[in-house]
Amino acid sequence: MTARPLPLNLAPTLIAWQRVHGRHSLPWVGSRDPYRVWLSEIMLQQTQVSAVLGYYERFLERFPDVAALAAAHQDEVLALWSGLGYYSRARNLHRCAQVVVDQHGGRFPGHSVALADLPGIGRSTAAAIAAFCFDERCAILDGNVKRVLTRALGNGDDLAEGRHERALWQQAEALLPAQDIAAYTQGLMDLGASLCSTRRPACDACPLASLCVARAEGQPEAYPVKTRKLKRGQRAHALLWLDHKDSVWLVQRPQTGVWAGLWALPEFESDRDLWDQARDWPGVGRPMPTVQHALTHFDWTLRPCHWLLPDSLSTAHRQQVENGLPSGRWVMREQALSMGLPTPIRRLFEAGPPR
Ligand code: ADE
Repeated sequence: MTARPLPLNLAPTLIAWQRVHGRHSLPWVGSRDPYRVWLSEIMLQQTQVSAVLGYYERFLERFPDVAALAAAHQDEVLALWSGLGYYSRARNLHRCAQVVVDQHGGRFPGHSVALADLPGIGRSTAAAIAAFCFDERCAILDGNVKRVLTRALGNGDDLAEGRHERALWQQAEALLPAQDIAAYTQGLMDLGASLCSTRRPACDACPLASLCVARAEGQPEAYPVKTRKLKRGQRAHALLWLDHKDSVWLVQRPQTGVWAGLWALPEFESDRDLWDQARDWPGVGRPMPTVQHALTHFDWTLRPCHWLLPDSLSTAHRQQVENGLPSGRWVMREQALSMGLPTPIRRLFEAGPPR
C-alpha cells in the first residue's frame, strides 16, 4: 500500500487541539529547560506517564541540574531509578550528564544533531528536546507518533523495513508546521497517548478524524504495520536469598547485560547448583514461590530459595559460606531497599522471607 498525498492541514488542527485538550499539567510540559525536558523524555521511553511522575519529582529534587547528576555516584542514580525498568536508560543518563559537563561546559548542545550524539539520546528524543527547548523544526517519531502518523496518512508500509521507516521520517518532516513546533510536537505525543490508542482508538473525539485515512478505511487498528516479531527466549535461574541476622548477601550485577549495575541476589544455573553449594551450610533453606519476570528479549523464571544462617554462626564459618558465593556484601535489609534493586528482588524483600 502506498501513502496518499500528505494532508496539509494536519498541523493547524493538531496545534489548536493541543492548546485546549493537551496535557498541560504534566510537570515537564511547557518547560524550555533542556535538562528537565531530557530527563522527562528518557523516563517516558517505554514507560507510562503515571509511572514516571513520582520518579521525575524525586530525581529533580536530588539532582536539580545536570552538574549535580554528573557528580553523583552511579549507585545512587540506579537507586533512584529502581523500579522504572530498562536500566540502560539510567546508566546512559548518568554518562550523558557527565559528557555534557565535561565536553559541553555543563550546557546541553542547542541543536538536534549534536544532541543525538550524546549517550542514550536517539533521533526522536533529540528532536523532542530541540523542538521543546529551542523551537527547532524537527520531526519526532516515537512509537505513539508512528501510530498517529501512519493512521492519518494511511501509510501501511511495513516499518520493519528500514526504507519504509526512513520514508516515514521524511513524511513526518514534510508535515512540520512553520511555527508552533513545540505545541505541534506535544500535540502529536498527547494524541498518541490518549485518543489514538493501539486498540479501540476514540476516533469520534479525534481532531484529525476528518482527514484520517485509516479512519475512512474503517480499520485504524490495522496501523502501523510492522511484521518482524521479536522471538522471545526463555530462561530459568535459581536465586539465593541468604540471610544472616538482619543482613542479606547482595551481589552487584556486571555493567553489561540484564539488570546491569543493580544489586541483586546471587544467581545459580539451577536449583541443583544452588543446593550443591549450600550442602554443608548450617541453618535452614526453604524454596520460595517461583517468580515470572518478562524482559524485552526473554521471559525469566526465577526460583528463589531463602536460606537463614543461624545467629550464632562464627565469623570463620560465615567466611567459609561467603567463599563459595559470587563476590558481594552483607547489607542490612532496610538499607537494601534504598539501593538500586531490580523490581522482582525489591518485591521479594518487601514481602519478607517465608515464615
Ligand atoms: N511521552 C514522551 N514525551 C512526552 C511528553 N513530553 N509528554 C507526554 N508524554 C510523552
